[in-house]
Amino acid sequence: MDLKKIIRDIPDFPSKGIIFRDITPVLQNPESLCYAIDEMMEPFKELDFDLVIGPESRGFIFGVPIAAAMKKGFIPVRKTGKLPYEVASKSYELEYGTATIEIHKDAIKEGQKIVIVDDLLATGGTCEAICGLVEDCGGEIVCLSFLIELLRFDGRKKFAGLPVHSLLKY
Ligand code: PRP
Ligand code: ADE
Repeated sequence: MDLKKIIRDIPDFPSKGIIFRDITPVLQNPESLCYAIDEMMEPFKELDFDLVIGPESRGFIFGVPIAAAMKKGFIPVRKTGKLPYEVASKSYELEYGTATIEIHKDAIKEGQKIVIVDDLLATGGTCEAICGLVEDCGGEIVCLSFLIELLRFDGRKKFAGLPVHSLLKY
């Protein structure tokens, strides 16, 4: 299935010069939604890991169904101020601004192996911050899977030595 034909390109959103890759048409259609989820979890099938982690908000869309299909738990990474219990925090830069993300301090047990799922890899800032949070909590990132990779940022260089999978490259 050619998902690039379904993804909608929106110029100058959320600011001038950005081409926003809008995945909502992929989510709307059951065939493309299930295809995207199946393909994104393919790299995890032969992998030994404990948990899936994904960032608010689009990381939740793919992270939770993948975790459930693989009978794993899911750790939500949220923007600052949203999680109610004790948190670990990291700030980072992305294509159109800066952000701070948090996880609950007790979300990860020492030595747990964790895979990252998100819709899109651009600068890699979000996932680099997630790697930092996971390490601070005693976990280990073992693989990353994205629907879309924006090649011009070369975000994958931030994860040297780790398998980084993406379905669609722009
Ligand atoms: C987008 C996207 C990724 C991140 C990628 O999320 O869903 O999480 O940016 O960019 P990076 O590789 O440069 O870090 P955004 O922060 O816009 O939040 P959203 O999912 O709530 O729209
Ligand atoms: N997140 C970061 N850059 C993006 C883009 N160009 N389109 C959609 N989501 C994004």
